[in-house]
Amino acid sequence: METRILTVTDTCWNGLSEAARILRNGGLVAFPTETVYGLGAVCTDDDAMRRVFAVKGRPGDNPLILHIWRVEQLPELAAEICPKALRLIEAFWPGPLTIIFPKRPSVSTVATAGLDTVAVRMPSHPVAHELLRLTDIPVAAPSANLSGKPSPTKGSHVVDDLAGKIEMIIDAGSCNAGIESTVLTLAVKHPLILRPGSVTREMLQEVLGEMVEVSNPAVPCERPQAPGMKYRHYAPQAPAFLIEGADNRKVVAHINHLLASAGAEKPGLRQVVLGTTENLKAYDTEFILDLGSRHDPAMVAARIYDLLRFCDQLAADIIYIEGISAQGVGLAVANRLYKAAGGNVIHVS
Ligand code: TXA
Ligand code: MG
Repeated sequence: METRILTVTDTCWNGLSEAARILRNGGLVAFPTETVYGLGAVCTDDDAMRRVFAVKGRPGDNPLILHIWRVEQLPELAAEICPKALRLIEAFWPGPLTIIFPKRPSVSTVATAGLDTVAVRMPSHPVAHELLRLTDIPVAAPSANLSGKPSPTKGSHVVDDLAGKIEMIIDAGSCNAGIESTVLTLAVKHPLILRPGSVTREMLQEVLGEMVEVSNPAVPCERPQAPGMKYRHYAPQAPAFLIEGADNRKVVAHINHLLASAGAEKPGLRQVVLGTTENLKAYDTEFILDLGSRHDPAMVAARIYDLLRFCDQLAADIIYIEGISAQGVGLAVANRLYKAAGGNVIHVS
């Protein structure tokens, strides 16, 4: 199939009505959001949504997020909108917060993977907003990457993964946040973050006035609340190791030690370090990529997936990633780094 690439700039939005037409006719369109690019299909077309799973190679038991452009669409999807949810919507929509609601019977079980809940979010990206407005049917959209690859944060990432497989890719450059939305459920005793994101635990607690819990990605769960949690995600091709610890100098020293010992064992090994700006000069390898400042986790979030994809382009043999503090947005970054490393975490004390 030929994939149309629609380039959208700040001043030229021509073609979005064609994109909406494709969606309404059951086609697949990848589009930018403020978090990552999404691969959209209207939630009223089961065949189109099944194609989304097929194109991505996504397991059918991992449900999709439904995207809306105005709150009036929510009652079509959610059977109940509790007062806490209303407060969160008021504070954070449009924006990178996905809320899990009890679903209406009419919502397709293809989208929800058979669950009796539905995940909904209202993106703030102006192109996503306009596309959703023109389509005017909620759009089911997972991240527009092949399953298991890092989420796409640039149009070119989507082209790399999905060109030839879908009707259209809308390229609007880089995504701001760079990591997927925060996923929150209110269906348990304390509000629970299933996937941390740019709307932080602290921000949610401030609005709700109560404790918000975070599900621990380190704990393997038999029956995950977010089914996506059981799959390896965001992974580059080469094995990756996350090296973390309170003492920054020790972390750097340990990474240099690992570089030296692996290099001595296998000369010519392509060893890549993803280090923070402050420490770049301290690393002893040819391939050093700049994660951003360790004091600015939002910057690291915006860069991380692009860097992980770049590791594949470099044909890295092994990747060492410097951990950052899990405060604020740092929690979401730490979660993605942990997953990129497939749980290979070395704690230096
Ligand atoms: O920022 C984002 O959320 C991006 C953009 C495109 O909006 N979308 C995204 O979708 O990251 P995806 O499919 O890659 O991740 C959706 C996550 C998965 O972890 C899935 O398991 C969880 O949301 N999810 C969806 N429906 C759920 C439900 N009913 N209950 C619990 N978790 C759910
Ligand atoms: Mg995804």
